[in-house]
Amino acid sequence: MTVETMSQAAQTARTALPKIKTSLPGPNAKRIIADDERLISPSYTRSYPLVVKRGRGAIIEDVDGNEFLDFSAGIAVTSTGHCHPHVVAAIREQAGELIHMSGTDFFYKSMTELSERLSKVAPMAGPHKFYFGNSGTEAIECALKIARYHTKRQAVIAFYGAFHGRTMGSLSLTASKPQQRRRFAPLVPGVTHVPFPYTYRFGEGKSEREYGLACAKFIEERLFKTTVPPEEIAAIFVEPIQGEGGYVPAPAEFLRELRRICDEHGIMLVADEVQSGAGRTGKWWAIEHTGVEPDVVCMAKGIASGMPLGITMTRASVMDWVPGSHASTFGGNPVAIAAALATMDVIEREGMRNAAAQGERMKQRMSGWVTKHAKVGDVRGKGLMLAVEIVKDKQSKTPAPTERDRIVQLAFENGLLLLGCGETSIRLSPALIVTQEQCDYALDVLEKCIAQV
Ligand SMILES: Cc1ncc(COP(=O)(O)O)c(C=O)c1O
Repeated sequence: MTVETMSQAAQTARTALPKIKTSLPGPNAKRIIADDERLISPSYTRSYPLVVKRGRGAIIEDVDGNEFLDFSAGIAVTSTGHCHPHVVAAIREQAGELIHMSGTDFFYKSMTELSERLSKVAPMAGPHKFYFGNSGTEAIECALKIARYHTKRQAVIAFYGAFHGRTMGSLSLTASKPQQRRRFAPLVPGVTHVPFPYTYRFGEGKSEREYGLACAKFIEERLFKTTVPPEEIAAIFVEPIQGEGGYVPAPAEFLRELRRICDEHGIMLVADEVQSGAGRTGKWWAIEHTGVEPDVVCMAKGIASGMPLGITMTRASVMDWVPGSHASTFGGNPVAIAAALATMDVIEREGMRNAAAQGERMKQRMSGWVTKHAKVGDVRGKGLMLAVEIVKDKQSKTPAPTERDRIVQLAFENGLLLLGCGETSIRLSPALIVTQEQCDYALDVLEKCIAQV
């Protein structure tokens, strides 16, 4: 089937809106949650009792037949919507032919094919090289190791509020919530965290541009001149839009300054596009909105519509390590790659354009909430990576995590799936193929829930 006919089939699923038929959680959901409590690691953070059965487009059906409008997309993963027919067909076809043969030891065409396609949409000039893993954290681990290997330096800079993953290397870069690090020390040494330009909360009267420049200046004027000599720094890791930290876009001036600092001192600039990439902001990579060219791009989440895939893309000159330096048994699994190739078709054909258009419309409406609703302190984001920051009151900007959680819970009860982010924000990250009707509906529900709290 062509992408065109697939899209028509998907269209029907996409026009759907939520239908709640039972009390929540329903009886089947209750049983599974009880089993889960007995068997599953309590480290997971479940926001509400949703037990998923199947998904289509932007709709999730639970085990009791309730249908929800999904504005979380499995944490910004199902970029083409749940079970997009074009992606499902590609997965089925590949699964019937070859499921695994380890790209670590052997060769297969789809790995180079996907690399060629990603190279064409890279945010930095080519040639490029690609490393294949299975997740966001692995894409970051690879970047951390290659940065040290390539530069022969040990130190790394990351930012407060950053989330780069949960394995020991990426966790050392993560500085989002204390619970993510508590009792796991010692982490990888050599990481220094510095302020990220989260202007609304920490900018103290400065514009985004001014605070962005101040944060970059801190690196040069304080860090380099006091504790970390620049010639010892391998890389700066930055999310062009902080995800878990609160959906906070980095001002363009800040990223341009990071690029200049990196160029002056032979430091690598690593863009963590695990959440912000794959078309979500209306461009392939969020950093493209600023014109800044990174040396390394880490991607995962939306790149394969839910199949586990993490990719580290570098300027070719950076990947100068030798056989045996780094690899992964499952990394670049043929089925995940087939899903990624099909995902790229859908993103290029309609996803990116739609993300830009729907995101712009939603942001316009949501921006009005800052004056309309006492508890909305800030609205920010790009494309379909949007956030509302909930506060006790606008003057003090006191974080209101309890109220935020209540809003997310109320939205669930009304059939809308949302997730929190940062200390006190709510993120909207639907599939890139979400319809205008679904966006309007979601904002109606969210606004009603905000007004209720
Ligand atoms: C920006 C960013 N980097 C890295 C990660 C880690 O990805 P994963 O959970 O696939 O390991 C995440 C996950 O939320 C992320 O948002």
